[in-house]
Amino acid sequence: EKPLYILAIESSCDDTAAAVLQNAKVLSNVVARQAIHEEYGGVVPELASRAHQQNIVPVVNVALKKAGITRSELSAIAFTQGPGLMGSLLVGSSFAKSLALALNVPLIAVNHMQAHILAHYIDEDGYKKPTFPFLGMTISGGHTQIVRVNDYFDMEVIGETTDDAVGEAFDKSAKILGLPYPGGPLIDKYAKEGNPKAFLFTKPKVAGLNFSFSGLKTQILYFVQKNVAENPDFIAENRNDICASIQHTIINILMDKLKLAVKETGITQIAIGGGVSANSGIRNTLTEAQTKYGWTCYIPKFEYTTDNAAMIGIVGYHKYREQLFNDSAVVSKARIAF
Ligand code: KG4
Ligand code: ZN
Repeated sequence: EKPLYILAIESSCDDTAAAVLQNAKVLSNVVARQAIHEEYGGVVPELASRAHQQNIVPVVNVALKKAGITRSELSAIAFTQGPGLMGSLLVGSSFAKSLALALNVPLIAVNHMQAHILAHYIDEDGYKKPTFPFLGMTISGGHTQIVRVNDYFDMEVIGETTDDAVGEAFDKSAKILGLPYPGGPLIDKYAKEGNPKAFLFTKPKVAGLNFSFSGLKTQILYFVQKNVAENPDFIAENRNDICASIQHTIINILMDKLKLAVKETGITQIAIGGGVSANSGIRNTLTEAQTKYGWTCYIPKFEYTTDNAAMIGIVGYHKYREQLFNDSAVVSKARIAF
């Protein structure tokens, strides 16, 4: 059987990404990060769309070149339909539509949230693939979801945040501590040297499998303000302990919900994704949970956890196999259900 070559485009937020897959194997995975947003302490939608406009053609060309594939060899074009920033999505979808039309190959619209989960099905040495059903937990700067995954395209969101995403909880806490954006990786770094029980933060009370992180952020703000008023050097003197305590609280919140999800569904396979799954504390806790609770945990390769096009490509591959194609009238969606 002839292999399929899928070109995938991801442009839902601030990263312009393109990948080429040969069936489930990634031949290239290119991401152009938009550094401009760091100056603003968060993603500026208008600037993101403009940067996508500038980056998309070079990024696709680099992805093809790295893969050693010419345009004429492509079997299909997959792109992110949503959810995401509308202006950003439109750049990727317009590009994908035009290229599919020019090459006369199928167009495949991909749900970004499904892609974060199906990233686990990329062929990668040393990484196992979860079997259905499993629980997917997508944790990033834009998402916080627990999903029951019954099959490739049969997923159900069973818990999600009611306010901030978990990555925002990291980033906003970091900002309160005067750390640059995005602060999640820095909290992780300093937490390694700190005592996670030095300071106690209360966990939000949210029913069922949903999350809330905005209260934690406010709690941390008041905690820091109060202590800095008493001792102007409070942050500098306690940075590692503060970071460790914040991270510990966030991990506890995630673990409480995962334990409840396992209890409610009886499913013990957990697959995580999204930028926050890079967090070393979360990785360690999940690795421990395998022996502690008998779970099987799947943590994808780092480049497939943050926003990337390879994950869009793997969904494209599975949709192609089921002949799930879209016509050129398909529209981008800022919000999208599974
Ligand atoms: O998936 P991603 O690259 O983009 C989206 O938000 O969709 O995730 C970025 C988020 C940011 O909030 C960043 O602070 C967080 O992931 N992050 C981390 C770590 N690495 C990235 N948070 C905690 N610990 C980390 N090591
Ligand atoms: Zn994402």
